[in-house]
Amino acid sequence: MQKILVTGGAGFIGSNFVRYIYRERPNWQIEVYDKLTYAGNKANISGLEDRVTLTVADICDEQEIGAAIARNDAVVHFAAESHNDNSLHHPWPFVKTNIVGTFRILESVRKHNKRIHHISTDEVYGDLELDDPAKFTPDTPYNPSSPYSSTKAGSDLLVRAWARSFGVKATISNCSNNYGPYQHIEKFIPRQITEILEGRKPKLYGSGENVRDWIHTEDHSSGVLSILEKGKIGETYLIGANGEENNKNVVELILELMGKNKSDYEHVNDRPGHDLRYAIDASKLMNELNWLPKYTDFKSGLADTIKWYEENEAWWKPEKQATEEKYKELGR
Ligand code: NAD
Ligand code: DAU
Repeated sequence: MQKILVTGGAGFIGSNFVRYIYRERPNWQIEVYDKLTYAGNKANISGLEDRVTLTVADICDEQEIGAAIARNDAVVHFAAESHNDNSLHHPWPFVKTNIVGTFRILESVRKHNKRIHHISTDEVYGDLELDDPAKFTPDTPYNPSSPYSSTKAGSDLLVRAWARSFGVKATISNCSNNYGPYQHIEKFIPRQITEILEGRKPKLYGSGENVRDWIHTEDHSSGVLSILEKGKIGETYLIGANGEENNKNVVELILELMGKNKSDYEHVNDRPGHDLRYAIDASKLMNELNWLPKYTDFKSGLADTIKWYEENEAWWKPEKQATEEKYKELGR
């Protein structure tokens, strides 16, 4: 593999993956294909121009995506509308990008006989009870709750069908909640950090008992690269790093790391249909592809992430007011 197309490569996880590949595979050329929605930012991939190019276009554009796929060896497909809260209020962009966009990509990789790795989420499996010892496995039935997760589930099923019916060389990964630098400030961890930096209190949905399984974005990137290079065609791999934490604990930890009183947060309206708990069993990826997460000290990863937002105010500040105005309308 010499030339890869990274859709959504100017977003949070996509840009971290591009930086990772740039470092780890010095002979690869990377074409980022991104519409630069509110969530995409050219600055996320700046400084890599000798081996990374940017095509600003929509994955739903049959001609543009077809031409980009034709000129690369493989596609790693991150592009998506990614935020649950937005999907509850404006679901159409989710249906269009996540389902129609993935369909366009599949038709094109089929036509040009290219390899595709499809990035998905653990949310396709629904949620688990707090006291359930079970975790999601590749055999867990699909049971998505939100417009976002249902469109991701739909995109996964399209990929599976194109692999089985048309022999498309596809793999899929379903990962848990990522954290790290370059994450949009609408998301939980950067929202709380930037609220504190602006002198306001963190905002916890509902009781704060909901559990997410946190993974550093660097570990997601290494998992994706393992699958891209060594994964078995047609297979699904789950990526997770045993990082279960409830939201209340995460907010308290952020406050503590930022030198504030641990109880200095507020409860806001809960998210409708709010999934209770996610937990990933990544043993297939570990056993079959020898993958291991490296950034498993959540407190230290969180401290680094806080430092990144403290040092990169110019990156997030222009988005802050509009993001909080959206939340204000929702009472969250
Ligand atoms: P993000 O919202 O930060 O980035 C999405 C990127 O896709 C942006 O750069 C945006 O401009 C681009 N994009 C959106 N619509 C597009 C379109 N129609 N055409 C071209 N580009 C378009 O999202 P993220 O958090 O980085 O998530 C990336 C992928 O990883 C998504 O597929 C998401 O479902 C999946 N995922 C995310 C997480 C998480 O914790 N954030 C966990 C598991 C899986
Ligand atoms: O599990 C993987 C998924 O993780 C990805 O597929 C999604 O793209 C990604 O956005 C993320 O979804 P979540 O809904 O879990 O992430 P979010 O950051 O929106 O919220 C994390 C938890 O924090 C969730 O239980 C809701 C809660 N929350 C969120 C915000 C923004 C709060 O309590 N307060 C907040 O202000």
